[in-house]
Amino acid sequence: MAVTFRIYRFNAEKDAHPYYQEFNVDLPAGSTVLDGLRHIKDTMDGTLSFRRSCRHGICGSCGMTINGVNRLACETQITNLRSKKIEVEPLRSFPVVRDLITDMTPFYDRYEAVKPYLIDLKSPPTDRERLQSPEDRRKLDGAYECILCGCCTSSCPSFWADKDFLGPAALLKAYRFVFDSRDQDMGERLRIVNDKHGLWRCHTIFNCVEACPKDLNPTWAVAELKRAVIRQKV
Ligand code: SF4
Ligand code: FES
Repeated sequence: MAVTFRIYRFNAEKDAHPYYQEFNVDLPAGSTVLDGLRHIKDTMDGTLSFRRSCRHGICGSCGMTINGVNRLACETQITNLRSKKIEVEPLRSFPVVRDLITDMTPFYDRYEAVKPYLIDLKSPPTDRERLQSPEDRRKLDGAYECILCGCCTSSCPSFWADKDFLGPAALLKAYRFVFDSRDQDMGERLRIVNDKHGLWRCHTIFNCVEACPKDLNPTWAVAELKRAVIRQKV
């Protein structure tokens, strides 16, 4: 399988500007974009820098822009791209550290801002599970599976326009705890997302839904949060 990779390159320590570099490779059938990047790094240019770990769509570290679309490199089959040329770029709207590696600090800062953990104000700390009914647990389906790849937030025009916007991933996480039957801090959680950089910045563009490799729906979660804010008169 002969393909050409056109890869965004930038090393802040020596490059004044980013540039693109092409690599012609011959890969076995069934190769993913991550396989191609690893082949280039292992056999052609060891300085090529990118993140990866699990190779199975679990760790979320290989999010990048491939032929203009945010995807996981390890889950992107080259044959499915239907192109002999593969352009690979770092996730847009995050600062580039080197080549395909971005500084995800702004992403994690927003994640942290929504308090991504259970808050139980009444019960004492316990070393046991905090149980909930199967029915309540099912309400969290579609909200807990996020792997924090950043593909959604990076594809969001509201985030491009307002770098303080919480963004779809953080808002989906807020939903996951607001609607958890065991959590007891809904009021404070809704106050956090009801900020001028919070859920009202979402204009229902759905880019996040298209970008999510886990088929999650942050736009729907944001709509539910908006309803909760109005219902609770936050
Ligand atoms: Fe990635 Fe989807 Fe989570 Fe966004 S919601 S960070 S696209 S897994
Ligand atoms: Fe872990 Fe791609 S390497 S999600």
